[in-house]
Amino acid sequence: MLKLALSEVMPGMKLAQDVVLDDGRILLLKGFTIKPRYIQKLEAYKVPYIYVDEGFFASEEVNEERIYEDAFHTIKEIMEGIRMDEHVDVDTLKQTVNDMVQHIMNDDMIFMTLTGIRDIDNYTFLHCVDVCIYSVITAKVMNLSEDDIHEIGLAAILHDIGKCKTPLSILNKPGKLTPDEFEVMKRHTLKGMEIVNQLPGLNPRIAKIVCQHHEKWDGTGYPFGLKSFDIELAARIISIADVYDALTANRVYRKRFMPHEAAEYLMAQNETQFDPKVMKYFIDSIAVYPQDVIVLLNTGEIARVLPCRGIRSMRPVVSVITRKDGPPILEPYEIDLRSNPTVFVVDIIS
Ligand SMILES: [Fe+2]
Repeated sequence: MLKLALSEVMPGMKLAQDVVLDDGRILLLKGFTIKPRYIQKLEAYKVPYIYVDEGFFASEEVNEERIYEDAFHTIKEIMEGIRMDEHVDVDTLKQTVNDMVQHIMNDDMIFMTLTGIRDIDNYTFLHCVDVCIYSVITAKVMNLSEDDIHEIGLAAILHDIGKCKTPLSILNKPGKLTPDEFEVMKRHTLKGMEIVNQLPGLNPRIAKIVCQHHEKWDGTGYPFGLKSFDIELAARIISIADVYDALTANRVYRKRFMPHEAAEYLMAQNETQFDPKVMKYFIDSIAVYPQDVIVLLNTGEIARVLPCRGIRSMRPVVSVITRKDGPPILEPYEIDLRSNPTVFVVDIIS
C-alpha cells in the first residue's frame, strides 16, 4: 500500500483504505477505483493524503468515465450549435454513441454508476446522455439487432434536440408552465424532427422517433396522439427512460424522487402511458440502486448497495457501514430491504 499526497493521485488507482473525514464520516470506500470526480471531491474536503494499492498502471478502467464525458460534451456542442444556427458535427456524435453502445454490449451496467449525476446548469445535456444509456440497455435486454440499438442510441441522445429552439425563459422556468407556455414547450417534438431531418447522414426514422418521444401508449400524448403500436418501438423505449430520468433528477422546482419511488411511479402508469411489455424490460434491465452506491436509510444508517438489478434492486440488500454523523462501523452488517418493509432509502450520498 502507498501513501500518496493528493497531487500524486491519478484516476485508475485503487483505494487501499477507506477515506474517513475528521468527523468520522466515510467519504470513499476501500476498493473503489479513483475517478476524476473523486479527486475533485477529495480536494473539496481538503483530504491531505490517501492510501492506494501498489502496482498501478494507467489502465482502461476509467474508460467509461471518458466516454460519458465525451458524450456530454458532444451533445452540448451540438445543442448549442443548433441554438446558434451553426454547423454541427454529426460524425463525432455517431462515433460517441457507437462507443457507448459497444461498451454497453460488453457490459450493460458499465455506465450505471455515472447516470443520475446532476448539475442544474447542465441538466439538459446530462439528461440526454442518461436517456441514451437507459434506452440502449433496455434495447439490448430486448435482444434487438445491433443496427436497431445504434439507431435507438442516436434517437435517444437527440430526443430533446428540438428544445434548442424553445425560448430559454420557458425552458428554464422554475415552476409550472402556463397552458400557453406548455403549448410552446410541446413543439420541441416537431421541431426536433425538423432539425434531425436536416442533419446529414441520419436515417429519417431517427427524426420520426424523436418526434414521437412524448406519445403515450393510450393515445393521450403529443404531438399527434398516436396509440400503442402506431408509436415506433424506439420511441416507446425512450419515453420510459425519459420520464424515469427526469423524475430521479433534482430540478429547480422540486426535490428528486428516489430511484425506487420513480420506478414505482412508472409501474403505476403502466398500461396507460407506457407499453407494458417494454416497461417490464426497462425495470428488469435498470439497476434502480446500482452496486456500491452509498445510501442513507430512514433509520439513520448509511449503507453500501450490494449487487442486484431489476425489480429486486428497488429494495436491495445493503451493507451498513456507518450511521449518520457517527463513526465507521468496523464490522459492516447486511439488511435485506425486501424483508424489512419499514426500512427504506431516503437519500443517495454518492
Ligand atoms: Fe422531450
